Amino acid sequence: MLLELARSKSILFFGGKGGVGKTTVSAATAMAMAAEGKRVLLVSTDPAHNLGHLFNRTVGPRPVRLASNLDGMELDPEQTVNEHLEEVSASLRKLMAPHLAGEVDKHIELSRDAPGMQEAAIMERIAEVVEKAATDYDLLVFDTAPSGHTARLIALPEMMSAWTDGLIQRRDKAERFSSVLRNMGSDKSVGNKILGGQEDPLVERESRIRSLLNRRRRRFMDLRNALNNPERTSFVIVLAAERLPVLETIALHDQLRRSGVTVGALVVNKRSPEGMGEFLAERRIQEEVHLGTLTEALPDIPRQDLTLVAHDVVGLEALERFAVSLGAGITA
Ligand SMILES: Nc1ncnc2c1ncn2[C@@H]1O[C@H](COP(=O)(O)OP(=O)(O)OP(=O)(O)O)[C@@H](O)[C@H]1O
Ligand SMILES: [Mg+2]
Repeated sequence: MLLELARSKSILFFGGKGGVGKTTVSAATAMAMAAEGKRVLLVSTDPAHNLGHLFNRTVGPRPVRLASNLDGMELDPEQTVNEHLEEVSASLRKLMAPHLAGEVDKHIELSRDAPGMQEAAIMERIAEVVEKAATDYDLLVFDTAPSGHTARLIALPEMMSAWTDGLIQRRDKAERFSSVLRNMGSDKSVGNKILGGQEDPLVERESRIRSLLNRRRRRFMDLRNALNNPERTSFVIVLAAERLPVLETIALHDQLRRSGVTVGALVVNKRSPEGMGEFLAERRIQEEVHLGTLTEALPDIPRQDLTLVAHDVVGLEALERFAVSLGAGITA
């Protein structure tokens, strides 16, 4: 079921509580799709990265080859924030009036710790990956951080304020000044003449800053459009068959729905195996009770259960075996 979903989409997000198996299931899905011949990019957006650990190799902010047809990368929020602030600071220094240089520094420093900054940084990198990778890959698989973070991430374009609003306020100050100049006479060029008879440097700066900010906004809006397109994008919630994870899954689903993101599958991982004695049989019955709540709340979302295996899933071979439990190799 999960693999059917993966076959029909170009972007998959995996989210859920800590430790439920998001990285394992997303990586196994990515491997299965790569094995079917799709060009797949597996992206970890979790600040506590573990793709490297899973594949027994170093994975960084640029794609590296993990297996045939499969590349992986880990987004680094800290580095992204730094790169972003450097870029903005350099652009602003070029564009703003020299006497505002101190203001630029102040704004940049305040922005560094602004609420939502890291999430916005990750979101911007996701937007970039979606934009750039669309031509190089058939499928993008995002392994996200535990749920609260993910839902905030997806609800994001609004949280972009951390990037832009402070800048816009300062820009507005300058804009008011230049509009006063422009309105000083019926002849629209009066303001320009006052400023030296050529292009109004303030207006010129204004429009360059505006286009810089707008470019960023546009990128976020493109991402929002991609996320809200159920033909292209689906969200997979991974969970355990326990009371709280079930309740949180229902809440996460609601949050995603409000953001216009379609949940295409529920993966219940680490189910107690059958035929393994009385204790686990009882556990299964308990799990069924919780899953009853899940199905009642989300009756239309396909569900796939995966059994608890005896060992940690680490390395290519273990992942391949795990992918078989998802149904890999059965239908192509
Ligand atoms: N079906 C399974 N049976 C046994 N162990 C599993 C199963 N699925 C995952 N694991 C193990 O559980 C641990 C947590 O899995 P994983 O790292 O994929 O979770 P996660 O949701 O990505 O965690 P985090 O929220 O920390 O990123 C790992 O050691 C993994 O090998
Ligand atoms: Mg993980």
